[in-house]
Amino acid sequence: MERDWERALGKFSYGIYVLTTSHQGEINGMIASWVSQVSYDPPLVMVAVHPNRYSHGMVDKSGKFALNVVAKEQGHWLGRFKGPDPAAKFQGLKWKKGATGCPILEESLAYVECQVVDSYRPGNHTLFVGRIIAAQLLEDNIPLTTLDYEGTYLGKR
Ligand SMILES: Cc1cc2nc3c(=O)[nH]c(=O)nc-3n(C[C@H](O)[C@H](O)[C@H](O)COP(=O)(O)O)c2cc1C
Repeated sequence: MERDWERALGKFSYGIYVLTTSHQGEINGMIASWVSQVSYDPPLVMVAVHPNRYSHGMVDKSGKFALNVVAKEQGHWLGRFKGPDPAAKFQGLKWKKGATGCPILEESLAYVECQVVDSYRPGNHTLFVGRIIAAQLLEDNIPLTTLDYEGTYLGKR
């Protein structure tokens, strides 16, 4: 049975991002929605990642990640960026390595590349705080958010 706080948090809204990583020649991408700017000067963002995610170890070890903003019409990326095969996730997509070596999805709306400056484990996800070291607006269009589909990520899994 759903608890009150789960029902309330189900009404929070978030943007949808592909978190990409690169470590020792390996790349990966996963959907992340627990993302926020947390400082302007310096420019910092945070992403909360469950330790079970393959990406978690890669961010932890490499100390870097990129967040790619998913466009409203790219809802099918939710299905693409899951599963165990990184090659399949990127197959057929236009991407390049950014300044950090993390994959940049060239058809996303915008991206930020970050160096991890802190990490916290206050609960069952790790908060990686990243300083933005490169960023670009690629297309001025409407981003995908949790308002565009059923079921906000609640972090249970
Ligand atoms: C809409 C949506 C939002 C998600 N947000 C997060 C998130 O913020 N943090 C997280 O750890 N997992 C999140 N996930 C789950 C991961 O994307 C999923 O477990 C992914 O397969 C992990 O990939 P990996 O194991 O290759 O790193 C989300 C999934 C969806 C569909």
